[in-house]
Amino acid sequence: MKVTLHGTSRHYRTVWCDKARNRIRLIEQRLLPHQFKIVSTADYRETASAITDMVVRGAGAIGATAAYGLAQGMRAFRGRGLKAFERHTAKVYDTLAKARPTAVDPVNAMRSMLAQLNGPTVADRQAQAVALAGQFADDDATHCQALGQVGEPLIHDGAHVLTHCNAGWLAFVDYGSATAPLYAAQANGKSFHVFCDETRPRSQGAVLTAWELAQQGIAHDIIADNAAGHLMQRGEIDLVIVGSDRTLGRTGEVANKIGTYTKAVLAKRHGIPFYVAIPLSTIDWELESGQAIPIEERDEEEVLSAWGVTPRGRRQQVRIANPGSSARNPAFDVTPPELITGIITPLGIFKPHQLWKHRAKLG
Ligand code: MRU
Repeated sequence: MKVTLHGTSRHYRTVWCDKARNRIRLIEQRLLPHQFKIVSTADYRETASAITDMVVRGAGAIGATAAYGLAQGMRAFRGRGLKAFERHTAKVYDTLAKARPTAVDPVNAMRSMLAQLNGPTVADRQAQAVALAGQFADDDATHCQALGQVGEPLIHDGAHVLTHCNAGWLAFVDYGSATAPLYAAQANGKSFHVFCDETRPRSQGAVLTAWELAQQGIAHDIIADNAAGHLMQRGEIDLVIVGSDRTLGRTGEVANKIGTYTKAVLAKRHGIPFYVAIPLSTIDWELESGQAIPIEERDEEEVLSAWGVTPRGRRQQVRIANPGSSARNPAFDVTPPELITGIITPLGIFKPHQLWKHRAKLG
C-alpha cells in the first residue's frame, strides 16, 4: 500500500526478496509508527528469527516471509547431490515452521512449494523455489485484494466498523484481510469510521492498524480493549471484521489475536454481525478441533511492561505491573463458529460450517 513519508508517497509490500544478494527485505514493524525502516535478513536462520521476534508478523506476511526464507535457505546449499539437498531443505523448513506456531500460513506456503518442486537438479529446484515463493507472495496480495471486493458491500455509507489487532496490509503482503473491504469501500467513495483495538498486550491495533488507516486517510479512533462492549451497547458499532491466523476448514473455528473471542461474544450479545476475512492460505484442512491449535504463549514482559517513545523520540520500555508479580500471556484465542456471521474469502462469503462442503473450491 501507499506509504507517505516526509511528503513523498511510495508503494510498499511488507516483504520482498533481493534475488541478487539472496536477502529478504522486510518492513521493521516493531518500530512503527514512530520510525519506518526496511531491514534485510542474510540467511534463513535470520529470517526465522525475524518471524519469531516479530520484525514481521501477521498471517500472510509471515507466510510469504517463510516462503522466501525457504527459497533463501535452499539457495545457500553448498553440498552435492539431490539427497543432501533434500536433507538441507528439510532442516530449513523445520526452522521456519517452528518460528511462530499458531499461524498456519507459513506451513501452508512452504508445503505447497515443496509439493511443486520437481526439477531434475539442485540448481533447477533452487530456481523453482525462488519463483514459487514470489508466486505465494503475489497470490497473497491478489487474494486480499479480491476478498476486499467480496467484503466491500458489507461496508455501508456511514458505518462504524470495529477491527481487532492488525489484519491490515502490514499483516499480509499487501491490502490486508480485515482492512481490504475498507480500502475497497474507500475507493468507491464511501465514508465510514473505524474503531481499532488490541491496546494490550502488544497494542497492535493502536500502533499498526491506526498507522495504516492514518496513512490511507481513513477516519478512525483507537479504543481501549475494554471499551468495545460499551460502544456496542450504545449502538455505536455496526459491524466487526477481524482477521485470522488459522481457520479450521473442518469446524469453522477461528484462531486470532487474543481478545477476538471476547469481541465475538459481545457482538453476538448485541446482534452485531461478526465477520472474519481470510485469504485461502489461512485455512487448515487437517486439524479436527480448535483445542488442537497450538496457542503461542509469549514473553510475560509484554503484559508486565509497555513500549513507547519518550517526548525526545527515544524508544523505551517501562514497567507497569506490580514488581515481583508474574503474568500469563496467551497470544491467541479460538472463536467458535456459532459466533461468526461469515468468513470473507476471495471466492465469496461462507458460513463457517460450510467451509468443509466447499473444500474442493477453497482448498
Ligand atoms: O500479535 P500479532 O501481531 O502477531 O497478532 C497476530 C495477528 O497478526 C493477528 O491475529 C491478526 O489479527 C490476524 S490476520 C494476520
